[in-house]
Amino acid sequence: MSMIKTADDIASMRIAGRLAADVLDFIAPFVKPGITTLELDRLCHNYMVDVQKVIPAPLNYRGFPKSICTSVNHVICHGIPTEKKVLKNGDIINIDITVIKDGYHGDTSKMFLVGECSVLAEKLCRVSQECLYLGLAAVRPGARLGDIGHAIQTHAEANRFSVVRDYCGHGIGLVFHEDPQVLHYGKPGTGMLLEPGMIFTIEPMINAGTYHTRLLPDQWTVVTRDHKLSAQWEHMLLVTDTGVEVLTQRPEEDLSHLSTPTSDTQVALTRV
Ligand code: MF3
Ligand code: CO
Ligand code: CO
Repeated sequence: MSMIKTADDIASMRIAGRLAADVLDFIAPFVKPGITTLELDRLCHNYMVDVQKVIPAPLNYRGFPKSICTSVNHVICHGIPTEKKVLKNGDIINIDITVIKDGYHGDTSKMFLVGECSVLAEKLCRVSQECLYLGLAAVRPGARLGDIGHAIQTHAEANRFSVVRDYCGHGIGLVFHEDPQVLHYGKPGTGMLLEPGMIFTIEPMINAGTYHTRLLPDQWTVVTRDHKLSAQWEHMLLVTDTGVEVLTQRPEEDLSHLSTPTSDTQVALTRV
């Protein structure tokens, strides 16, 4: 099946992306010491279902039991919300939101610093966000997936961090995870050619120690093998005629350094 979305698909994905981003803004004031990850799940679930009228995509996805992923400290991704996990001062947490609106998926995540964090934790969260932004900056028609991975890997390793190999970004649309696989490491000029109308995520997982992972017995929670910290940021994007459009941008983000769609782009995409 083609990875190029139609104009109607793109219009729907813009809406799904905005809704997913809105959930991160909704939950931000609640991410404080003392709250449990189960409470964060309940708050997000009710906001998605009752206010946004969307379906939380993780719930029952391949058996995942909750509506959001909450990954604290050495948890790399797919952390399951639980009443036992109480956030404490100094924790870092990734909250990953995926909504389904009119059948279309919107997927995004960010890190939250809980209270006062260590210099290392703050640096890891900052550098991993910079990795995402450098990956986004590599997106344009004619570039290749390896250019994205290379940009991310170069920045992570220049800061003596490592890039998780076992999980990657993905194409997305009516299906949660579809082709292509978007690796967060790689060589420039290699991999699939990017074309206008492709929609995929970039979601680098960056570790303070080695990149090795371990899957916990719950078959979901992925942790660092060395138990050192991990951080992740995720955006969902559209390849435009001139560059990239970030479909899950939040108001707090300044992405003006990225090439943005022009009115010509809108016209061209309408013809797809
Ligand atoms: N949102 C995650 C991603 O970025 C996937 C979560 S799958 C779940 O691809 F089942 F754990 F929710
Ligand atoms: Co994703
Ligand atoms: Co996600």
